[in-house]
Amino acid sequence: MFVAKQSGQAATLGFYSLSFSLENTNKLSKPEDRDAWRNGAPLLYIDYLAVQTPFQSQKLGQFMLIDALKRSHDVSRSVAFYGVALRSLNDRTTGLYTRFGFNVAPNETNHPLMILPIWSVNDLFNQA
Ligand SMILES: CC(C)(COP(=O)(O)OP(=O)(O)OC[C@H]1O[C@@H](n2cnc3c(N)ncnc32)[C@H](O)[C@@H]1OP(=O)(O)O)[C@@H](O)C(=O)NCCC(=O)NCCS
Repeated sequence: MFVAKQSGQAATLGFYSLSFSLENTNKLSKPEDRDAWRNGAPLLYIDYLAVQTPFQSQKLGQFMLIDALKRSHDVSRSVAFYGVALRSLNDRTTGLYTRFGFNVAPNETNHPLMILPIWSVNDLFNQA
């Protein structure tokens, strides 16, 4: 669990957590990816991403999402996995994740699984 705090303050403003999971290959959009990862696609999941209500809409959620992607980029130097994934809560969060390059996986409707391939994440941070 990674928490966001104001320096010198005890209160938690927001948090996220990461875990690994193996996803069925049919959740990958491209046929060539489904072929390459035919035994399952390892994904680094952002399990929770939340900001305390009084601190919402002040860019902390975006900041933590970027922090999670940077951490994923660092992990990808040592561990092979297909990409970063999460389940979106509603249309507004789907908009947020889409702006960061996540795509809704095939046949997902409610709380859709969204995936961002790790090479896209690595492109982002290798250019920085
Ligand atoms: C979703 C959440 C993490 C975003 O963090 P935030 O600091 O409030 O958001 P930011 O200021 O970084 O804004 C970025 C985008 O987040 C989304 N967002 C902001 N507040 C939101 C809310 N209350 N509910 C859903 N999405 C929200 C919007 O897409 C927003 O972009 P926009 O203002 O252009 O519409 C935060 O609002 C939250 O914890 N909501 C409740 C729990 C939740 O929905 N978690 C996500 C699970 S997928």
